Amino acid sequence: MGESLTVMIVGAGAREHTISAAYEKSKRVGKIIVAPGNDFIAFKRKKEVVLEKSGNLKDANSFLEIAKKHRPDLIDVAQDDALAAGTVDLLQSHGFNVFGPKKSAARIEWDKKWSREFMQRHEIPMPEFQSFNSESEAMQYVNGLYSKNPARQVYVKAAGLCAGKGALKSENLEEAMQNIKQMKEFGSSGETFVIEDGLVGEEFSYYALSDGNSFHCFSSAQDNKRVFNFDEGDQTGGMGAVSPAKVTQEIAGQIETEQIAKAIEGMKKEGNPYVGVLYLGGIADNGKSMNIEYNARWGDPECQAVLPSVETDYAEIVLSCIEGNLANVKIKQDDKVRVCVVGASKGYPNDYSKVKGKQIFGLEDVLKCRDVHLFSAGIEVKDEKFFAKGGRLFSVVGEGENIVKARQAAYSAMALINIEGNNLHYRTDIGWRDVERHLKGK
Ligand code: GLY
Repeated sequence: MGESLTVMIVGAGAREHTISAAYEKSKRVGKIIVAPGNDFIAFKRKKEVVLEKSGNLKDANSFLEIAKKHRPDLIDVAQDDALAAGTVDLLQSHGFNVFGPKKSAARIEWDKKWSREFMQRHEIPMPEFQSFNSESEAMQYVNGLYSKNPARQVYVKAAGLCAGKGALKSENLEEAMQNIKQMKEFGSSGETFVIEDGLVGEEFSYYALSDGNSFHCFSSAQDNKRVFNFDEGDQTGGMGAVSPAKVTQEIAGQIETEQIAKAIEGMKKEGNPYVGVLYLGGIADNGKSMNIEYNARWGDPECQAVLPSVETDYAEIVLSCIEGNLANVKIKQDDKVRVCVVGASKGYPNDYSKVKGKQIFGLEDVLKCRDVHLFSAGIEVKDEKFFAKGGRLFSVVGEGENIVKARQAAYSAMALINIEGNNLHYRTDIGWRDVERHLKGK
């Protein structure tokens, strides 16, 4: 078959740029619409890429209008707010071929209380938790926890969507109290919140695509959520990722059976089949894979480090999920290591307003680098010049046969970029644990 399919991707960031690159590689895809996208996604692409900026991620109807205009053959709803807004349901009800979980299935991400109760029903290993609507009851609960063990850690998590910033770690009672009070700042997303036992270990992200019955797991990744090196500073949407992450064979086996299979099976049993990307945020706690959370889409920035490894035609994989035929597709990934480093406006995740509109230099040089991918988030393009328009601006991904080479590729490309007034911020330690393991031969 020739290049005939038009694919529409719903989302705006570097993850959606990465997904568009995966479809661009497909022999079956001729044209890609990204809604709302960002300017740089459409810059100098091999295939036709069209942006539809009127897409509003919280308004499913805005995507219906765009879909009616372009009549895409496939729509990939890749972003969490859009999934929670019921975009998949609405577009399907109008006869479009849509990839992504319906609103009721995406609840596994947009309602963390419901998600934990679902895990309880299906005996999925996770930390102990309690959910709350009342600040005072939550405070009483953590008082009780810390009086038994003052050295413990707990997480206070907003039940609703918070752009990846709603899980707050507490190392002592005072911090736990503070974090409970902070739930108000998340508005309706923080009205209900969950308090969970803090587990200790290295975290990983794991991805499966499912057609509702069977699933396929991709290689793992590790996100770096804090804004500064060595996991210091505020929580962000993600400052970098490495793929694959350090996950032992034993843990990988547990993830597939205890975390992914049970979730897909559980959703099916509850009459709520899960078709889409299932993202497990997990931790290896004393040799046991434990669930930190499920999300209903690829992670950002993990997607940037995982998806370029997929050698099988991505449109074929996604269409097979929609058709309930995933088990018949043989999916291959390469065995390279990838390091993704996120470039952000100085000040992010707090006030970065002074960086807005500043010129970004060096991006075109990065496009010429070998073993490097550049995916954009907050970049405005005017007259072939680039300007900062957001907190996280772009992801630079380096690839190689090992972590040292992948890191070298990513950071030498990153060194080519600057923002007027020295306003570029990025972490310089992405992959440090893996480098250490590599050098020690572990
Ligand atoms: N990497 C975290 C997220 O996508 O939610």
